[in-house]
Amino acid sequence: MILDRLTALFLVVFCLNGFVFTQQDLTAAEGRKLDLKADKAYTHVIEPILVNNCTGCHGADKAKGKIRLHTPEEITKSESIIADGAGDIPMIFRVNLPDDDEEVMPPESKPRLSAEQKKLLGWWVSQGADFEKTISELSVPDDINVILTGLSYSEPKQIVIKKAFSLPEPAGAADAAAVAAIEKSGALIMPLAQDTKYLSVNAINVAKSFNDEKVKLLVPVKGHLTWLDVSRSAVTDGAAGDISQLTMLTKLHLENTAVTDNALQQFGKLSKLEYLNLYGTDVSDAGLEHLKNLKNLKKLYVWQTGVTEAGVNKLKEAIPGLYVNTGWKAPEEKPPEAKK
Ligand code: HEC
Repeated sequence: MILDRLTALFLVVFCLNGFVFTQQDLTAAEGRKLDLKADKAYTHVIEPILVNNCTGCHGADKAKGKIRLHTPEEITKSESIIADGAGDIPMIFRVNLPDDDEEVMPPESKPRLSAEQKKLLGWWVSQGADFEKTISELSVPDDINVILTGLSYSEPKQIVIKKAFSLPEPAGAADAAAVAAIEKSGALIMPLAQDTKYLSVNAINVAKSFNDEKVKLLVPVKGHLTWLDVSRSAVTDGAAGDISQLTMLTKLHLENTAVTDNALQQFGKLSKLEYLNLYGTDVSDAGLEHLKNLKNLKKLYVWQTGVTEAGVNKLKEAIPGLYVNTGWKAPEEKPPEAKK
């Protein structure tokens, strides 16, 4: 029962997020080089292949062919990594079928796995399909080594999202009158997903008229409001006190508003915040100082602000793993005559 709810939440949130993030996070696809010593074979090599190619049909939401492949437990349960009666290992057998075979995975209508991806899956299974070992703990033949060396890793999306939604479900629904008042303001207020009482509010359609006064309407739903988009709105530092009460926020869009460091000064209580967009605002390094305790923050957008590289680095020190988008180009070299 609990599991069902979790998986349902996980799936809808994933869908929503797929939508939202493809719009916002143009840089999210960026990867890093694989660390052949420390990275794990499953987590860093295999899971991304499965998440990107298989778990849409064999995952939390769907179990095509009655199997799911989105967690180690489910993969094991699926029996797709152990030899069947004919001696074939279903996962490997299916992905290696000819492209026009009726049984090929992913099915014919979907993008094929690359030759490299097929080889990596085969290698991992041949090494015991272990979920914990690092690459270096397995035997890595030359051809696999070549592939791994050229591979980059970026966290598969579903994993990021699952973490975002470890929030406990609110006990009851948000106050209906409060929701109606927000609707009346013209902002879009919606359940974040089918199976949750969490809400998202988006003021994009009424950005010009959505001001500090309107933000006050959000406070009565603070136990439910987890995504807020007031980008390009008339919101100013005057709303910061009210925003700081919205402590269930995981995602906050303030880009292209008049907010400054003074607003950030009040954001220390938004401890669940994972995504903060301040693009095109007047914030600076001094403002970032106030974000240091937001330990859940994963993505920060400060493109076209007063923030400098030094400020970013300081914040990254305080919040390990934080991704900061500055939109910076390579630092300009000063023309020689400018040096004295
Ligand atoms: C578009 C949906 C879709 C995608 C994407 C997809 N599959 Fe499937 N898969 C199916 C369907 C439908 C079946 C059941 C019909 C069949 O057996 O061909 C199936 C069956 C399977 C089976 C056999 C299950 C059993 O025991 O009968 C395996 C193994 C499998 N898929 C692995 C994969 C792998 C690995 C990937 C990614 C590389 C993948 N699938 C991607 C739809 C999908």
